[in-house]
Amino acid sequence: MTAQIKGYTLVDSGEGRKLERYGSKVIDRPSSLSAWARRKRGHTWEDAHATYSPPDRWAFSDTRFTTWAVEIEGVTIELELMSNGQLGIFPEHALYLPLVRDHIARLGNNGARPIRVLNLFAYTGLATAFCAKMPNVTVTHVDLAKRAIERAKHNASLNNIPNDRIRWIVDDALGFMAREQRKESFYDVVIIDPPSFSRVTKTNSWTLEEKAPDIMNLTLSILSPKAGCVFFTNHSTASTSDVVRNIALDTYNDRGVEIEIKPLSLKEESTERLLPAGSLIVLSHAE
Ligand SMILES: C[S@@+](CC[C@H](N)C(=O)[O-])C[C@H]1O[C@@H](n2cnc3c(N)ncnc32)[C@H](O)[C@@H]1O
Repeated sequence: MTAQIKGYTLVDSGEGRKLERYGSKVIDRPSSLSAWARRKRGHTWEDAHATYSPPDRWAFSDTRFTTWAVEIEGVTIELELMSNGQLGIFPEHALYLPLVRDHIARLGNNGARPIRVLNLFAYTGLATAFCAKMPNVTVTHVDLAKRAIERAKHNASLNNIPNDRIRWIVDDALGFMAREQRKESFYDVVIIDPPSFSRVTKTNSWTLEEKAPDIMNLTLSILSPKAGCVFFTNHSTASTSDVVRNIALDTYNDRGVEIEIKPLSLKEESTERLLPAGSLIVLSHAE
């Protein structure tokens, strides 16, 4: 998937860095995959509003700033120059939001009860706010980090989303799914973006390769038996993506689940070059 993202542009990339426009700000950051030459020279890069050098230094071409608001795919989200180089958004997640919207719109045709969306490893809540803005949708937002939940709540408030639309859960996503499975609590849409590595407690940590079968079985166990749909993303290396893909095929084949796998890439604004950003697996119950 390489669709245009409203509010975001990959201006250029190369020589180990990427230049991105988020709303009013242009940001220059490292990108280990950008092994090619840059296409744009001089001022395009030099005029970036903020440039990150690891481990924790931000430099500015003009005025210093820390936060700013952008509108991405119709969602207002506050970004922040964090000391680890993150901004509080991963733009590749905006690529598939239109697919999520189309699926919800199809489910919503009869309007009998709210559509239940579960967003796991939900971070600052781009997908949460995107879905909760739709009529007749409730979202359960799960993340282990309190700070991420606070930022997601702030982002929801920037979008004037009523409080009763979103349930906020600070918890381990796997533990939460196991509890929902026991309660037979089902979701119509599950958006899940597990990290390559998670430290749940001092003595409990996992890698995605280890946990992918559990994660996929749990996801299927809480998916609405009729017309439920999962959007599963991962951003691991190519080999891990194939591991995850194979596990998805093994887990879901012969269980009435259709599987579609799409690479995620960010396209440069004025070239045909693509910056790889992982993959999306869409799982849906065959209707
Ligand atoms: C890379 S971010 C996910 C990006 C996000 N899906 C988005 O749309 O931008 C990873 C998130 O997973 C959370 N996380 C890590 N381990 C977790 C776990 N075991 N259970 C729940 N959340 C976890 C982190 O706190 C972090 O917010």
